[in-house]
Amino acid sequence: MPAIKDLGAASRTSPIFSPDDVTVIFVLGGPGAGKGTQCANLVSDYGFKHLSAGDLLREEQDRPGSEFGEMIKTYIKEGAIVPQEVTIQLLENSIKATMEKDGKKLFLIDGFPRKLDQAHAFERSVVPSKFTLFFDCPEAEMEKRLLNRGKTSGRADDNIESIKKRFKTFVETSMPVVNEFEGQGRVVKVDATQSPEEVYKEVQAKIKERGVEPISLKFVST
Ligand code: C5P
Ligand code: MG
Repeated sequence: MPAIKDLGAASRTSPIFSPDDVTVIFVLGGPGAGKGTQCANLVSDYGFKHLSAGDLLREEQDRPGSEFGEMIKTYIKEGAIVPQEVTIQLLENSIKATMEKDGKKLFLIDGFPRKLDQAHAFERSVVPSKFTLFFDCPEAEMEKRLLNRGKTSGRADDNIESIKKRFKTFVETSMPVVNEFEGQGRVVKVDATQSPEEVYKEVQAKIKERGVEPISLKFVST
């Protein structure tokens, strides 16, 4: 992953990509809603590149010499949202690197935008999203999944103290993003309490309604 050299992306006033050239689908849902699991399915069947904002932040946190490492670590432990300039720059760098490397132009951006300012800044300065895939799941179910994941994930925030803070941040800071997009008719909502297989079936049916088809079907004529 290229190191962050500057934080110019978030302050640009027009998008660097057109939605005609680059397709971005935002993937949101509370912590433990199953975003990563479903993204992995979509990558293999639809040819998306999966960019997880949380993974990119953890990578930058661990990158030797990063000037943002300590700051990111503190925010993640506290379940707080890292300042958008850093996250948007990491995403932009990854989008560019992916396009240069394998020419991919379909992106699932998972765990982003988690706050209204990052939603506005990304769509203004990088590219407007096609829609947001929202995984709707009750806290009790997410808590159960996260505590279970915490047994093996090695994540500093999969413990009950951090989980409670992440839930609070999700409700207070991230849900306003979902609500704003929903008001614009730009949210595809999926019931994430079902089994991963059932959730995926619903995802496939609902994104089809928005014109997103699996790779194998794209080349079938008639
Ligand atoms: O999505 P994930 O659960 O991996 O995110 C872990 C943490 O990374 C979040 O709780 C938050 O502290 C940070 N994060 C962020 N901004 C984002 C995505 C994640 O600050 N857009
Ligand atoms: Mg994740």
